[in-house]
Amino acid sequence: MADVTLATQHLLRYLKHRQDEGVKRALLSDEAKAGLRAVYFHARQPREAVAATPVPTPTPTPQPVVVEERPLTPQPPAAPAEPVSNEPTIAYPKIAVAEARTVITATGADKAAQIADLKTRIAKDNEARTADLRDTMVFSTGSLDAEIMFIGEAPGSEEERQEEPFVGPAGQLLTKIIQAMGLQREMVYISNIVKYGPNASNQDTGNRSPTTAEMHACLPYVVAETVIVKPKVIVALGDTALEGLTGEKTPVGRARDQVRAWNNIPFVATYHPSYLLRNDDIAEKRKVWEDMMLVMEVLQMPISDKQRGFFSKKR
Ligand code: URA
Repeated sequence: MADVTLATQHLLRYLKHRQDEGVKRALLSDEAKAGLRAVYFHARQPREAVAATPVPTPTPTPQPVVVEERPLTPQPPAAPAEPVSNEPTIAYPKIAVAEARTVITATGADKAAQIADLKTRIAKDNEARTADLRDTMVFSTGSLDAEIMFIGEAPGSEEERQEEPFVGPAGQLLTKIIQAMGLQREMVYISNIVKYGPNASNQDTGNRSPTTAEMHACLPYVVAETVIVKPKVIVALGDTALEGLTGEKTPVGRARDQVRAWNNIPFVATYHPSYLLRNDDIAEKRKVWEDMMLVMEVLQMPISDKQRGFFSKKR
């Protein structure tokens, strides 16, 4: 399916998801129908013909896809079509947003000033650094215009030393994942749900996960970061980030492999890179990679055949 437009691949996933949820009918835009027809045409070709025949592209430029659920009861005649916007609008299923203890609105003339304001305020906020958190604050890093915001747990000892998130072994793996997506670390925004390392007796050899209360204490700042950066996708890394952002204790293995809307921002949960460090199974790497391809599809980034094959088991 290499030549089928990304929007269409995305639409297929979305429709499958809704079908799994029991939705029986969907109203599709003409562009969406044309994209699906192209997939149907492509699937019916003999293998040799598929290799030789480029898939007809329904439109020269990516077109918005409007998907709308339809109840099964008869409906009045459809109203005249609304003018379509320039942005693809896909109604992702919603995921809960954890209740924040307060709303922080950063001040500042631009994004850099607003992030600096957040950093100053959290450093003075005694509620954000609860008793069992360490002293060194490790704020976020990366581009303030990033399309992707990764959110992890909390800094570890190496992050404290360098005062930068995700620079230890798990961070180095995250950097490789970002590069496999065709991006550089500096192009994304990397944050943590808690900005201080949790105190643990084995601080240099391992860390404990932040508690629910510690995440709750820092959440207003993380929400403020999303408001300032305005990422087009948020990636929650691991169970803890998922719980901190949504308030739900769902294992990430059950929450991954789907795009949902968190505070109206497309949201993908996947395993934390430290899970992959502990579990060197290609099938687990592939799961994370599939989640990253979902992120790339949301952003309509090109995905090469080589990238599609990463971490596939050799036959
Ligand atoms: N793990 C995290 O979740 N965050 C870091 O910054 C480093 C490791």
